[in-house]
Amino acid sequence: MNRLEGKVALITGGGAGIGRESALLFAREGATVVIAERDTEAGQETVSQIRGAGGEALFIQTDVTEATEVERAVAAAVERYGRFDVIYNNAGGSSARDARVTDAPIEEFWAKIKVDLFGTWLGCRYGIQAMMDAGNGGSVINCTSIFALIGTHGKDAYTAAKGAVSALTRSMAVEYAQYKIRVNAVAPGATATARVLKLLQEDNVTSKSLDGQLFGIIKPEDVAYAALYLASDESKSTTGHILSVDGGLTIS
Ligand SMILES: NC(=O)c1ccc[n+]([C@@H]2O[C@H](COP(=O)([O-])OP(=O)(O)OC[C@H]3O[C@@H](n4cnc5c(N)ncnc54)[C@H](O)[C@@H]3O)[C@@H](O)[C@H]2O)c1
Repeated sequence: MNRLEGKVALITGGGAGIGRESALLFAREGATVVIAERDTEAGQETVSQIRGAGGEALFIQTDVTEATEVERAVAAAVERYGRFDVIYNNAGGSSARDARVTDAPIEEFWAKIKVDLFGTWLGCRYGIQAMMDAGNGGSVINCTSIFALIGTHGKDAYTAAKGAVSALTRSMAVEYAQYKIRVNAVAPGATATARVLKLLQEDNVTSKSLDGQLFGIIKPEDVAYAALYLASDESKSTTGHILSVDGGLTIS
């Protein structure tokens, strides 16, 4: 309990899946949580679950691919709560339209680059600036994927975007250490969110990655606990790290 006491954490895509699970966990651990989510109903539902359990949360309708909206979400967090400690760039995800590079629709490449990479870049741009302005350091958590860590097939646009997120995470870790801002990422394996459970029925790429996960499909809360560690001061000596939550897939 209270591993995030006193901290303000903004989570993008906190209306579903791993993002919602992380938001609920962060709130249980004492954080004030700002949900920056495109889907109003989903974002408000997360906030009402947090408030219902006695926590503090705020929903800001945000499309992470729009610079003005991400800037506004960060500004709203600072204005309302007077501090800004954690940004978790979680919004994104693979889709059934993605394929190997010779087969995927060209629009799919830009769609993945826009949400998974540009959305993360924007979250870092405004989130890190807010941390620098406050001068108290902070923690950035990006979301990459096991697809960025191993050779795989059938999700090349998504893989390219997540690979870039991993590289960006490492360079920002070096650049912002002087401000005591740590930059890490979680790299989930196939995780049982509603979106991915549907994907598992639609394509065999996601289900193939499950073969190497030694404990089977990951639970969203398992990724949330990894993010909790990176958000908390317990990881104060850790930066530039990509923390896999993949049941051993990348080492087996
Ligand atoms: N679930 C997995 O198997 C898995 C594996 C590896 C990595 N990941 C990564 O974890 C993250 C979360 O995945 P998930 O399975 O929980 O996804 P999800 O689809 O369950 O939830 C994603 C949330 O993000 C929101 N969102 C999508 N686009 C947005 C945008 N442009 N602006 C704001 N909000 C937006 C959605 O409305 C949704 O609430 C993603 O970055 C994904 O790539 C997931």
